[in-house]
Amino acid sequence: MKKINIAIDGPASSGKSTVAKILAKNYGYIYTDTGAMYRSVTYLAIQHQVAFSDESSLVDLIERYPISFEQTTDGQKVFVDGQEVTEAIRQNDVTNGVSEVSAWSGVREKLVDVQKKIAQNGGVVMDGRDIGTAVLPNAEVKIFLVASVIERAERRFKENQAAGIETDFETLKKEIEQRDHLDSTREVSPLKQAEDAILVDTTGLSIIEVVQHIEKIVADKQVLSK
Ligand code: DC
Repeated sequence: MKKINIAIDGPASSGKSTVAKILAKNYGYIYTDTGAMYRSVTYLAIQHQVAFSDESSLVDLIERYPISFEQTTDGQKVFVDGQEVTEAIRQNDVTNGVSEVSAWSGVREKLVDVQKKIAQNGGVVMDGRDIGTAVLPNAEVKIFLVASVIERAERRFKENQAAGIETDFETLKKEIEQRDHLDSTREVSPLKQAEDAILVDTTGLSIIEVVQHIEKIVADKQVLSK
């Protein structure tokens, strides 16, 4: 079977990464978490005391400290300049700064280049905000995952609890709303459903149900393109 690319976009905590990881495993594809790349730049900015408003210094950081992924049996590990940052990039200071950092066109150009290269031979499940619209406009399958704000806040609350990160539910809900707003109103490549993407609302669905639903979409697409 030809290796295709699957683009999964959607707002914060809509289940993209969980679903994308399972799909990649089931198909033997590479999973690429593009949010982790924007988070890594934000983490670098904090470490090197670069202001989130300083676009050219943020771009310098990307050039100086390459971001890489390692697929392991316990999931994907993220490294910047050889140092593992998988957990550090999920902390609140990074989460609250990442929308500002990812709004810069200079930052996006650099990271989108890397993302396009990863997917150039197919066989990739990539999740983010602009994968179907800007990074992989020719992806064979495009999914736009959404879920209610309350359900997304509940999911993030549980994830944080499991990771030992202290959070208050109402604050989390406000942060998600704020991030949705910033991500969908920014000038460059805002969060937006691609015209040819299929909308999947995961509110009230289990992860397995969402995965099965998308696998059916992929199978139908493969039959049609034969
Ligand atoms: O998926 P996530 O929550 O880890 O993403 C973190 C932030 O990165 C998100 O608020 C917006 C930004 N992002 C982006 O602008 N484009 C992408 N392709 C992926 C993430």
